[in-house]
Amino acid sequence: MRIAVVPGDGIGQEVVPAALPVLTLLDEAYGLGITHDVLDWGADTWLRTGVGLPEGAIERLTKEYGAVLLGALGDPRIPDMAHGREILLGMRRGLDLYVNHRPVTLPTGVIDIFRENTQGLYVGVGGTVPQGGRTGVAIDECVYTRETVEKFVRYCLGRLRDTGRTKVTLVHKANAVPNTGRLWQEVFRRELEDFPGLEGSEEYVDAFCYHLVRDPSPYQGVLASNLFGDIVSDIGAALMGGLGLAASASICPETGIGLFEPVHGSAPDIAGRGIANPYATVMSLAMLLEHAGHGAPAALLRRCLDEAARGEAATPDLGGKGTTRSFMDAVLALLERG
Ligand code: NAI
Ligand code: MG
Repeated sequence: MRIAVVPGDGIGQEVVPAALPVLTLLDEAYGLGITHDVLDWGADTWLRTGVGLPEGAIERLTKEYGAVLLGALGDPRIPDMAHGREILLGMRRGLDLYVNHRPVTLPTGVIDIFRENTQGLYVGVGGTVPQGGRTGVAIDECVYTRETVEKFVRYCLGRLRDTGRTKVTLVHKANAVPNTGRLWQEVFRRELEDFPGLEGSEEYVDAFCYHLVRDPSPYQGVLASNLFGDIVSDIGAALMGGLGLAASASICPETGIGLFEPVHGSAPDIAGRGIANPYATVMSLAMLLEHAGHGAPAALLRRCLDEAARGEAATPDLGGKGTTRSFMDAVLALLERG
């Protein structure tokens, strides 16, 4: 398999190069046959050439690559994030990455949060009505098609079953947002019938947030629409101990292509200082390996990452004195021990 590696901006330029030796080591140890190309998409290229996502990039990714590993996009010189939106939304839409998976790893267990990634309030349907030279009315429509909700729910339930999970919660707000809310409930209940090993429950998103923070232990799998999933998974990242730990995968189940990236952004406040936590990026790489069917090296990598994060090489965001470099040295040493 070939991987497109996009370090991007800010600490992306630090954490992605730091993660690559792990790929080389595991590739050799397990004979994975993975190659990668580093692509220079990001703020520097945008400012120099005006190009975010190059012409034909989606076709090339589809034909030649099995996955994308991305650092982060975002640069103070481009305040509207025009390049980031072109690259990220371009890949999300162009590759139809409608499943966003963000695992939340807690002492009480792992919660697999799945967020629908292409529709809902993020479809860009809406507008404004001016009033006396200002905006008088502003409208953003929430749009869901049965087709998208069905394929999303079916894929997620299958994933949960295949990974041995027994409980799944639909997060919605059907009391106040009834049309899309009821579509989600209807599809969720119908699809659950095909997964007898999964016990389903439904919660209003506000109550769910409250329960998640109070006691996350009952949750195993969570399904949510675009906006709710966005918010809920950031709460999950906070529960884990910070953005430096949260990894994500955006997948198109039909083609199998996936975009793997840390949840955090380019962190300009610490960029260039060598202290960014590479954990989330390396964990995203573990998700990539798992998705590509390499479960054993993925499991080993997770174990080594967690051990390193508990040790003295932990980066300052985790309360440690380590650096990006010393943390990765610790991970590589643990990997070599096997
Ligand atoms: P951010 O995630 O970059 O940073 C938030 C805070 O968390 C900062 O204090 C940062 O230092 C810290 N942090 C984040 N990742 C860390 C890591 N690996 N190790 C240690 N500390 C870490 O979010 P912020 O500041 O809101 O956005 C910065 C830029 O990133 C903006 O341009 C934003 O648009 C962009 N962004 C890009 C994303 C992406 O590429 N998917 C996601 C989120 C934001
Ligand atoms: Mg977010």
